Amino acid sequence: MALHKYLVFFCLLAVVYPKSLKDDSVQEDIEEYIANKQLDINPRYRLHYHVIPPVGWMNDPNGFSYYKGEYHIFYQYYPYDSVWGPMHWGHSSSPNLVDWKTLPTALVPEEEMCFSGGAVADGDTMILMYTGRVVTDEEPYFNETQYLAFSNDGIQFTKYDGNPVLKETPNNSPDFRDPKVWKHGEHWYAIIGSKTDDETGRVLLYRSLDMINWEFLRILGESTGEMGYMWECPDLFELNGKFVFLWSPQGLAPQGDRFKNIYQTGYIIGNFNYETFEFIPETEFEELDYGHDFYASQTAEKDGKRYQVAWFNTWEKTHPEAADGWAGALTMFRELELVGDRILMKPVEDMITLRGELVLDGELQKDDTIDFDQTGEIIIKADLEKKIEILIAGRNGGDKVWIRWDPEVGKVSVDRSGDVRQVKWSPISSHSWRLFLDASSLELFCGEGEVVFSSRAYPDGEWSLTNLSPQVVNIEAYKLRRSVPYP
Ligand SMILES: *[C@@H]1O[C@H](CO)[C@@H](O)[C@H](O)[C@H]1NC(C)=O
Repeated sequence: MALHKYLVFFCLLAVVYPKSLKDDSVQEDIEEYIANKQLDINPRYRLHYHVIPPVGWMNDPNGFSYYKGEYHIFYQYYPYDSVWGPMHWGHSSSPNLVDWKTLPTALVPEEEMCFSGGAVADGDTMILMYTGRVVTDEEPYFNETQYLAFSNDGIQFTKYDGNPVLKETPNNSPDFRDPKVWKHGEHWYAIIGSKTDDETGRVLLYRSLDMINWEFLRILGESTGEMGYMWECPDLFELNGKFVFLWSPQGLAPQGDRFKNIYQTGYIIGNFNYETFEFIPETEFEELDYGHDFYASQTAEKDGKRYQVAWFNTWEKTHPEAADGWAGALTMFRELELVGDRILMKPVEDMITLRGELVLDGELQKDDTIDFDQTGEIIIKADLEKKIEILIAGRNGGDKVWIRWDPEVGKVSVDRSGDVRQVKWSPISSHSWRLFLDASSLELFCGEGEVVFSSRAYPDGEWSLTNLSPQVVNIEAYKLRRSVPYP
C-alpha cells in the first residue's frame, strides 16, 4: 500500500465505520450505494479501456492473479469519496487482460483497514493475503500485520478467523505491508515491505507450508540510506533465466532526469537461490516506466508469461477527475521480457482487439493534424536521424502533451504542459513508437518497449494529434473501443 505520509494523521481523525461489516447486508449496502452513485459521475475523464473504480477512490492494484479461467485484479478502494479513506478492496476480472467486468467489493474494513497485498490460487480456493492496518493509541498510532481471506468462487471472500497470521517484524518495525505471495516447490513464499531501525526501506522474505504458519527467512534487501525511507509493494520473480527484484521505494531524491515522481517503481536484475534465500544483485536500480504516473506495480505469471500493471497515478498530485466523483486508474496491462539488463514492457497481445475505425494509414505532413475521439492507438514511424515532435491536445483545450525525440542527445521526452520526463532510448530493433490515448491518459511504448512513458493528461473534449516534426512522419492510427463497464 502506498501511503502518503500525511494520511497517517488523517486516519486518526476519519476512521469511523460500522463494526460488523461481516454480514451480507453491509455488502449489499455497498453495492447499492455504488450502483446509485455511479449515475452521478461526470463521464468526461472516464477511461474507456483501463480499469477504474465504479465510483470513489482507487490506489494500488492488489491480488493480480489467475483463478478458474480468469484474470483477477483487486485494488485499494474507498467507495464513499473521491479521496483516500478506510481501505476496501475493489475487484475486476477479465478473460484476456483487456475486457474487464466489475465484481462486488471483495474486502471491507472492520477493525482493520484492508491495505495492499497479493492473491494466489490454491486448487479451487483463492487466497488473499493483505495488510491489516489498525489504528492504535500509542506512537506511531498504527500497527500493520498480515491477514488472510478465502474464496471458493473468486467473488465472495471470508476473512480467516485466526487473523493476523503474521504479527510482527524481526525488528518490531510497525511498517509491515504489501505481501506478495507465490508458490515454489511445496512452500508458499511472501515478500513484505518494511523499515530498518534507522527508518530506511527494507524487504523481508518469509515462507510457509499452509499460508498460516510463517517462517522468517531473511532480509532480501534494504536501503543503505540513498534508496528511500520505505520500500513498498515488493515483488520477486524469474524472467528469462534471471530474477527480478521489483519494488516501489519512497523518498528517492531526484537525480537529473531520474526519480522525478517522488514515488518510484523500479527493479534490480540478479540471481536468487532457494537454498540460501539470498538475492544477489547484478544491476543498479532502474525505473520501470519513465512517465508521470506509475506506482505500486503488481505482476502475475500465466503460461510462462509475466504480466504487469501499476497504479496510473501517484501521491502528492492533484487528480482532476476527483471533482467528478471518482479518482485513480490502473495502467494498461503489459507483458514483461528481459533482454540483457533491461526489462521491456509491451502492451498485452489482445490490445489489438480494441482497434476500431482506421483514422489514418500513411504520411502525416508537417503541421498537419488528425482528430480522434476520446481514444486512439497511433503507430508512429519517422527518421531517427532527425528530430520528431508530436503534439497531442484536447480539441477544445485542456492539457497539451509534446512527445519529442532529439537525436543529438538520444532522448525521448514527454512534456505534459511543461512538466517534462525524459530518458535515453537506444532501440534494439524496432524504431517505431506505439502511443495509446484514453480519455485522460497516454501511454507511449518506444521500439520493443525499451522505454515506456505512462502519464495521465486531461484534455477538454476529444484528442487531436499534430505533427510538429521537421519531417513527414508515417502514421497508422485507430480509434479504440470501450472494454471496461460504462457508466
Ligand atoms: C501489532 O499487533 C500484533 C498483534 O496483532 C502484535 O503481536 C505486535 O507486536 C504489534 N506490533 C507492534 C509494532 O506494535
